[in-house]
Amino acid sequence: MRRFKTTVVGAGNVGSTLAQRLVEKELTDVVLIDRVADRGEGKTLDLLQSSPILGFDTKIIGAHDYGPTADSDIVVITAGFPRKPGMSRDDLLKMNMEVVQEVTENIVKHSPDAIIIVVTNPLDVMCHVAWKASGFPKNRIIGMAGILDTARFRTFIAMELNVSVDNIHAFVLGGHGDSMVPVPRYSTVAGIPIPELMTQDRIDALVERTRNGGAEIVGLLKTGSAYYAPSAATVEMIEAIMVDKKKILPCSALCEGEYGINGTFIGVPCKLGTNGIEEIVDVRLSNPEGDALHRSADLVKEQTALIDKFMAENKKNGKKSAPAEG
Ligand code: NAI
Ligand code: 2OP
Repeated sequence: MRRFKTTVVGAGNVGSTLAQRLVEKELTDVVLIDRVADRGEGKTLDLLQSSPILGFDTKIIGAHDYGPTADSDIVVITAGFPRKPGMSRDDLLKMNMEVVQEVTENIVKHSPDAIIIVVTNPLDVMCHVAWKASGFPKNRIIGMAGILDTARFRTFIAMELNVSVDNIHAFVLGGHGDSMVPVPRYSTVAGIPIPELMTQDRIDALVERTRNGGAEIVGLLKTGSAYYAPSAATVEMIEAIMVDKKKILPCSALCEGEYGINGTFIGVPCKLGTNGIEEIVDVRLSNPEGDALHRSADLVKEQTALIDKFMAENKKNGKKSAPAEG
């Protein structure tokens, strides 16, 4: 029987931690690639040498070209650049657009039937880049962010109420960033909506901390961003797809009418199974919740328009490759 194969592009913090989680759980064979020669190879050799100690037999290959990735079932894109001093948000947007475009073109060449999970930021617009560059149907382009954002909200709720994280379901919609929309009404502890269990002031404080969840970690780490929770979130998506679990998880998906949003990737509840996104669950929102979601979608839409402009300029100028590491 052919084993499930996952390629992880980008052997940085998120990519290598994701590879580690996947092989240790014996979920899928993994190919880990990076544009920096030997980075993927070095990380995978180290991981492989942990296998006799931990007792896993999953295959893991490191590479810096796409040959070994051929016929992957899932490809996760974690490749990208962080923002550096002096670099504008638009500069970063353009650099990561070129990375995701180049990576996606290689995925299409080597794994034309793969499902692509995008992790690179800015998340929702990078999903748009992968969708445009691949020509894949929308169900095969999925952005990872909502599971991370809801996990943060769940963590803070559990800490506040001193209860198990297992009891908590949280609901977060919208773009991955400051405009995300945590929905307390649909966030529950053992089925009880959190407005029944804490004051509005405390809910507001937890919502704010969730919105700033990524920045809080960057502020503490100083030289990078979160990777333990992001990689765990990506594993949950891969598992749902692999075992056709039909699990409803918050992901960035291309909305075409759902929630009154058209032609934009944004965080919404998605049913994940063998075919990737099998359904977007369109939940009824109150007016303030719906307005907040539309404001978030408008911000993503603005960035998407910029991306379309950059992609058109690069096409006109015949520019193909991703930028060198600066
Ligand atoms: P990192 O800097 O540790 O790793 C990025 C890796 O990508 C580097 O090893 C780099 O050499 C590689 N790379 C760059 N261009 C490439 C190309 N063209 N082909 C192959 N590899 C290439 O960064 P980290 O912490 O792993 O984060 C990766 C990305 O994920 C960032 O954009 C980050 O902002 C994003 N992120 C998104 C999250 C989300 O919730 N969606 C959560 C955490 C991180
Ligand atoms: C996070 O939320 C950096 O997007 C990343 O941690």
